[in-house]
Amino acid sequence: MLCRELNHSKCKTYLVACENARTAVLIDPVREKEGLYLGALAYFGLRLEMIVDTHTHADHRSGAHDLADITGAQLVMHRKAPSPHVDRHVEGGERLRCGNVELEILHTPGHTPDSISVHVADRVFTGDALLIHGTGRADFAGGDPGEEYDGIVGKLFKLPDSTIVLPAHDYRGHTQSTIGEEKRSNPRVAGRTRAEYINLMNNLNLALPQGIQEALQPNESDLESDVVNFPTYAQLNAVHQLAPVEVRARLERASPPILVDVRENEEYRGELGHIAGARLIPLGELAERGPRELSDAKDHEVVVICRSGMRSTTGGAMLTAMGFERVWNLKGGMLEWNDAGLPVDR
Ligand SMILES: [Fe+2]
Repeated sequence: MLCRELNHSKCKTYLVACENARTAVLIDPVREKEGLYLGALAYFGLRLEMIVDTHTHADHRSGAHDLADITGAQLVMHRKAPSPHVDRHVEGGERLRCGNVELEILHTPGHTPDSISVHVADRVFTGDALLIHGTGRADFAGGDPGEEYDGIVGKLFKLPDSTIVLPAHDYRGHTQSTIGEEKRSNPRVAGRTRAEYINLMNNLNLALPQGIQEALQPNESDLESDVVNFPTYAQLNAVHQLAPVEVRARLERASPPILVDVRENEEYRGELGHIAGARLIPLGELAERGPRELSDAKDHEVVVICRSGMRSTTGGAMLTAMGFERVWNLKGGMLEWNDAGLPVDR
């Protein structure tokens, strides 16, 4: 097995390859460095088979979509990933194969709901869940310090002590560590109970990364920012969230809300289906089509829908800015709607 970190910067991208089959996996490629990755693949004589994004990144644009387009490699992310263009959704416990190399997926949420770690032979790629002598912040939308603790202590710390830890970021010049070393000396986790960890993480008071919305919303939607004028953080936070059962209850009223589904056409008709009567306006077309096609909804209740509730929060903020006054977001999107066992059309 060949394993290289390619960026040599704070943000890490790993190339993992089977030298027999000459096939490769890229983990967490960064957008500005696609040329470097294609060069490395050519240099080593490898065909890119899979791209894994360990989570929806908030601090940089992912190169995964572009590289999948160029190479035909499969883009792999957790089932809860909001992006419309994931080729293969995985859950914890699944095993993927690239030549003779086996990749075991561990669901390690908390930094984001879609965070995974990838266990390969004697090493584990921990994304932003477990960092070297640190852990990923858990204060973004969908973050959860308790879940993060459970993933780190209950899953990653169950791997053999000698397992090499390879995170998606390192801000302090560390290059690698082991599970045993992190268990003993990780300053956030070692010796702390779950409650102590939650308390610590809830009081870090970190500033938001610069340009978070410029990275996060395009990564969630796979749209360019010049196609959609993405709302600000404050505008996103102002969108009211409604759980699936609450949306369902409102649909039974005499004057039910108008449903606007902002996913892509394939998703609307795909595995998660859609709610009966939902009008399909993909997020990238909402600015143009919304005012025209939803003119009857201006003073009506509107519920915006997507896969995981992230793109639709963007859609909800856009509709609010267009003058729609009673906009709600389906919290958790069609994933939670399906998980709640509510009816779908296909
Ligand atoms: Fe991250």
